[in-house]
Amino acid sequence: MQRKPDVLVDIDHAVFNDVFRPYLKEMARTQIIYGGSSSGKSVFLAQRAVIDVMESKRNYLVVRQVGRTIRGSVFAEILRVIYSWNLNKLFNINKSDMLITCNNGYQIIFAGLDDTEKLKSLVPAMGAITDIWVEEATETDKNSIKQLYKRQRGGDENVPKRLTMSFNPIMQNHWIYEEYFSKLNLADTQTEYKSDELSILKTWYIHNRFLTADDVRDLENEKDKYYHDVYTLGNWGVLGNVIFTNWSVQDLSGMRNQFTNRRNGLDFGFSSDPAAASATHYDKMRKTIYIFDELYETGLTNDLLAVELKRIFGRDRIKCDSAEPKSIAELQKYGINAEPAVKGKDSVIYGIQWLQQQKIIIDTSCVNTKNEYQQYKWKEDAAGKAIRQPVDKNNHIIDADRYAYEEEMGGSLDVY
Ligand SMILES: Nc1ncnc2c1ncn2[C@@H]1O[C@H](COP(=O)(O)OP(=O)(O)OP(=O)(O)O)[C@@H](O)[C@H]1O
Ligand SMILES: [Mg+2]
Repeated sequence: MQRKPDVLVDIDHAVFNDVFRPYLKEMARTQIIYGGSSSGKSVFLAQRAVIDVMESKRNYLVVRQVGRTIRGSVFAEILRVIYSWNLNKLFNINKSDMLITCNNGYQIIFAGLDDTEKLKSLVPAMGAITDIWVEEATETDKNSIKQLYKRQRGGDENVPKRLTMSFNPIMQNHWIYEEYFSKLNLADTQTEYKSDELSILKTWYIHNRFLTADDVRDLENEKDKYYHDVYTLGNWGVLGNVIFTNWSVQDLSGMRNQFTNRRNGLDFGFSSDPAAASATHYDKMRKTIYIFDELYETGLTNDLLAVELKRIFGRDRIKCDSAEPKSIAELQKYGINAEPAVKGKDSVIYGIQWLQQQKIIIDTSCVNTKNEYQQYKWKEDAAGKAIRQPVDKNNHIIDADRYAYEEEMGGSLDVY
């Protein structure tokens, strides 16, 4: 007689987007769920995690590169699934430790790849970690993923292990493309690939029937070819006409106490755009900017923003977007040393040119900063030629950096 699972909940097929449903039971060792923005990838993987823990006795480790981004994304996403399916009674949710335990003993654990201590000590209450979900996997490096595979050694050999990566295909020279896609050479129209070792599913907005007409229109109206390719259609991006190539990523954690010549900036944002702040040190002699901390978060009212800023900057001066004097005054009231940046004529282009003349070193923890410097690009004319106007995207941290350095910029720019 077949043994019944401990918990069996009837989940209506209508809760899933069709394209993902076959992947509930997909058992390839490595799984890739990639594609355009808002295609339903994250929601599906959150749904699958909840079902697997309840019904298949699997333990999940959910990771992102930066630990502090987990609570607002994958953790919230999984809680939303549990609540919307009314499964609260079957789960114990420990919000402070971000630990979700099903009443059958199986667990969903969360960790940032930047938290090596936590990663080392993760052991589920029962059995081994069968599943790892790496959200926004393009933020990670190859070595971190290798280490994750090692973490899944041991446990019951009859239970297949899975490591699933989800992401937008931001650029074709990414290690994930090299590692998993380059040999396959899939056409843009091929949305699925399957071997025993590897499954790939590509989706974009048309696969998500829960999107509103507004969401769809925004995606379809994207004019920039690169953004249209990557975020609307889910194709691997090829970046032309990028603005910054003078940056690199380094682990700066050991250098913090040398960073005494601080320049800090803040760009306001709330609903669709994030509030973005950048903590930097300037080595003026070597024209080198060290960006060692960032804030990048939507939905922060000024009181909450002040708490975050205090954590990063303490009493240090922060140059802010002068378009929001009221917010600056509020931050000051909360004890933040906020000041308006003076924006001159053509300050965007001028600031970009000045930043292009520096060497910019970004700490490994500042994934949003890296993203922006990587993807900020010039607009193009119909022939694909760059025009001297940046695409108004991925410029929040960069704006913050322009504000931070506006005093340095004063007049010292080599005009060309
Ligand atoms: N199964 C579902 N049921 C209800 N709503 C859903 C479902 N799947 C997706 N959605 C809705 O669509 C939105 C976008 O989905 P999701 O965040 O999963 O996209 P994504 O592919 O992860 O996008 P991105 O690449 O931008 O991270 C969700 O915020 C949610 O509102
Ligand atoms: Mg997502």
